[in-house]
Amino acid sequence: MSNKIKIRSLFKDKKAFKEIPLIRKGVISEASESPLNKNNTVNSTANFLHPQTQSLVVKQVAEISNDTRAYILTPDTSLGTAKLAYFRPGQSISFTLNIGNAVVTRSYVIASSPERSLDDEYMIIVKKKLNGFASHFIFNNWRKGTKITASAPFGDFYYQPLRDSKSIVGICDNDGFPAFLSLAEAIADGTLNVDLTLLYTARKEREALMSQRFDELSHKCGKFKIIYTFSDEFVENKERGFVTKSLIEKYAPKGKYSVFVYGNTALYNRAVPQIAELKLENKYIRFGPGGQIENPSSLSDFPQEAKGLTFLCKIVKNGEQIATIPCAAEETLLIALEKEGIAAPALCRSGECGFCRARLTKGNVFIPSDVDYRRLADSSYGIIHPCCSYPMSNLTLIIN
Ligand code: FES
Repeated sequence: MSNKIKIRSLFKDKKAFKEIPLIRKGVISEASESPLNKNNTVNSTANFLHPQTQSLVVKQVAEISNDTRAYILTPDTSLGTAKLAYFRPGQSISFTLNIGNAVVTRSYVIASSPERSLDDEYMIIVKKKLNGFASHFIFNNWRKGTKITASAPFGDFYYQPLRDSKSIVGICDNDGFPAFLSLAEAIADGTLNVDLTLLYTARKEREALMSQRFDELSHKCGKFKIIYTFSDEFVENKERGFVTKSLIEKYAPKGKYSVFVYGNTALYNRAVPQIAELKLENKYIRFGPGGQIENPSSLSDFPQEAKGLTFLCKIVKNGEQIATIPCAAEETLLIALEKEGIAAPALCRSGECGFCRARLTKGNVFIPSDVDYRRLADSSYGIIHPCCSYPMSNLTLIIN
């Protein structure tokens, strides 16, 4: 078949379009009646790129700072994962963790280049969060040889040529830098052909993580540049303060460029008004996933009368009621499920991917407007994303 798309004329194209069903019927009637071989090339490629799960093993652990570690993960061939799934720089993987009686998922950006996954290595960076449940578990339990179950790579925070400019200004902090490390590695090894100028904001110079590697990549590759800006410290030849409109304009290339932002809520809150002043087309502004909301009752639209209340939620799976669990109004339904040891599907945990979708057949939930990405049709049929839904009454929930 020719790869070229021929535009004939409006009339001829419409006519050709109408002929498609006839052609399709002809092909179907001539096809063999024996079932397709499930191991065909299309299926095996799809399974390689999008496996249901990946069995991994920790190959190496490296200290980045006293509360941050890099984990090198490799396929666990003894459990059937022969190769790591390929990914796009900026994508994440989600881990399933059994912590006590709870079954929780957490996603981390793959901080290495896709090229390195061809040599059977992913690198992820884990920062120990204050009062963090999963990050503390990982710090205390993952060591060389630990076996881990992970998802396929997912997420859309990567360069998309139909939408993004080839010149990118990145903005990150200590929470968002792994995505840009992956982009910078991919630019330096030739996997990705874009120009990236990264504005990395930290409080102090010693707090900018992986700066040595970023500097090496910047020296090695003319298409990647890094600018540090420190809010609490003056450092010669470095910027001072937060990322502002004028700082972006100072380092942005001439002509069109995209702005990619990945970091914590404080970074987003500061960056959004500054970026708005740049008056870029919407498609040129990209944000990484917001992650779980830390304190939902502080949101202006949170129903304050529900604060401190706990409700009961009936959980239905495969047509059967499997449990009735307590759900606090200030915790997501996903967390309530996980705490009770009910394995619920989840990837992004921020309302974006739709992987956790469930059906609410009774009761009410609060969904912050900023993270309600559901289609109108879904919401009218009671579909909710438990990762960003908070109970406001007793409920009945059908999960997958
Ligand atoms: S886990 Fe992605 S929408 Fe809930």
